[in-house]
Amino acid sequence: MTLSIQPEERRSVTVRAPAKINLHLGVGRPRHDGFHPLDTVFQAVGLFDDVRAADGDGAIDIEAASYLPVGALPDPADNIVSTAARLLAETADEGTELPGVDLLVEKRIPVAGGMAGGSADAAATLVALDRLWDLETADDVLLDLAARLGSDVPFSLLGGTAHGTGRGERLQALRDPVTWWWVVVPSHEGLSTPAVYRRFDEMFPDAPATPASSAAVVSALASAQPAHLAAALHNDLEAAAIDLRPELGELIAHGEAEGALRGLVSGSGPTVLFLCESGDHARALADRLQGDDLPVVLVANGPVSGAHVL
Ligand code: C5P
Repeated sequence: MTLSIQPEERRSVTVRAPAKINLHLGVGRPRHDGFHPLDTVFQAVGLFDDVRAADGDGAIDIEAASYLPVGALPDPADNIVSTAARLLAETADEGTELPGVDLLVEKRIPVAGGMAGGSADAAATLVALDRLWDLETADDVLLDLAARLGSDVPFSLLGGTAHGTGRGERLQALRDPVTWWWVVVPSHEGLSTPAVYRRFDEMFPDAPATPASSAAVVSALASAQPAHLAAALHNDLEAAAIDLRPELGELIAHGEAEGALRGLVSGSGPTVLFLCESGDHARALADRLQGDDLPVVLVANGPVSGAHVL
């Protein structure tokens, strides 16, 4: 009889985190720390990045869905996932042995698209390493670490639909029991969020200190009527994004002429969203919009869960 000795199993955890859109994005004039006060309603929609964390020696790889532009991928060596991993490792109890880890990011959320793809990756990394390292970090601590990584990272953890204040990191979950359908049109080239906020400051030097209230969107969600939500959608960064990319205004008009209930820029852009009546309506609109000029047109619904282990 021969005895075979199995190599120790290489453990891994995969976490999936969603894209976000802003149903309302009220932006005030910059605070003393340079961030803008927000009154926003986030919704997590069904476009996801996955982060796989495995025992290893520190390799970070980023792969992208075939529809994402190849040049758009972030640099693995200088990426929010390594910052998230270091932050969690530093925060873990002293004495905890933190083994080396390999991270693989599989991107499907448009890069620099105004859909919090980087924030999704950071949130997924926190959840994956918390599980891989058996840390059992308390939710409020994880949310606090998330806020240190970026304004949208706490929402990527929470998911669903939520009211956001502060710089977007202070969240209150909203009841949103229906499914809303969106056509999502990414751009071939991303937009820098700080550049869009800077353009906002130039265009609106007299922006109020208190951002526009999201009350109309909150009551439209409660009505469960797509037409009511269409009328209430609001994005204070839209004018700045369109000023930097005038073709976004033409795309919104085109989608609305083709039957969307409403088009708007997603967050700081340049992704454009179209609200539809139903899944069938969204798929039909996506078919009509897709063509040589718009090779990538996606359909997604929301709300969906925040970062979760697969
Ligand atoms: O928080 P995060 O790192 O994602 O923000 C990226 C940039 O977006 C900030 O450096 C800032 O220029 C801008 N920003 C802002 N006000 C916010 C959120 C982001 O000015 N509430």
